[in-house]
Amino acid sequence: MTTMKQRAGEAALDYVSDGMKLGIGTGSTAEAFVRALAPKVADGLSIIGVPTSERTRELCEELGVPLTTLEETPHLDLTIDGADEIDPDLALIKGAGGALLREKIVAAASDRMIVIADTSKIVETLGTSFPVPIEVDRFGLASTRNAIEKAASQLGLSGDIVVRTNGDAPYITDGGHLILDASFRRIVDPERLAVALNVIPGVVEHGLFVGLADIAIVASGTGVEIVTASGGK
Ligand code: 5RP
Repeated sequence: MTTMKQRAGEAALDYVSDGMKLGIGTGSTAEAFVRALAPKVADGLSIIGVPTSERTRELCEELGVPLTTLEETPHLDLTIDGADEIDPDLALIKGAGGALLREKIVAAASDRMIVIADTSKIVETLGTSFPVPIEVDRFGLASTRNAIEKAASQLGLSGDIVVRTNGDAPYITDGGHLILDASFRRIVDPERLAVALNVIPGVVEHGLFVGLADIAIVASGTGVEIVTASGGK
């Protein structure tokens, strides 16, 4: 039986054409995309991909999807990636899988970003069901955390900000940093929060993706819906 994630991953193939340079996302839905892409490549589809995590790199290598790096290929045609939450403007929370830094760099280097997800990821307001992951340098962790709390409070936001763990140890990203998961709940203005987080020393990147996604392919139990931003982006 086809799962919703497989349905979304397979539908994304419609947007991939011969010769494309692709950003390849991270997570279970992105994995479904890679698993759908690999047989097309084996059949002769010529693409080259930049993976957004070591996990995705290993998967692509295992399945024979050819890879490059942003150093070799700094400009990409299309990134296809999952998301944790998608709002009506196609602003996203990403990073539950811990790959938000590379995911954002790759998406920003691409002409287009397509988000693939199932219906559970659609929200009216970001922050409803997922915290915002904030990737931070280990140095000065307590100070950075305080600065995040202060910046959020100036925007009327508050909530737990906790260091992500992996068993008993802190979770370490591919870039060697920590992640703070900030449960701000209702983020009415994600762009303002994104800008406020961007200027805090010690914040390497955050999981608010604003203005990056062009369309979302949202799979349900019966089919897929192509969602564009309500503002007409
Ligand atoms: C990883 C991500 C993922 O794309 C996001 O967590 C969605 O994952 P999944 O498709 O497994 O639900 O941002 O950093």
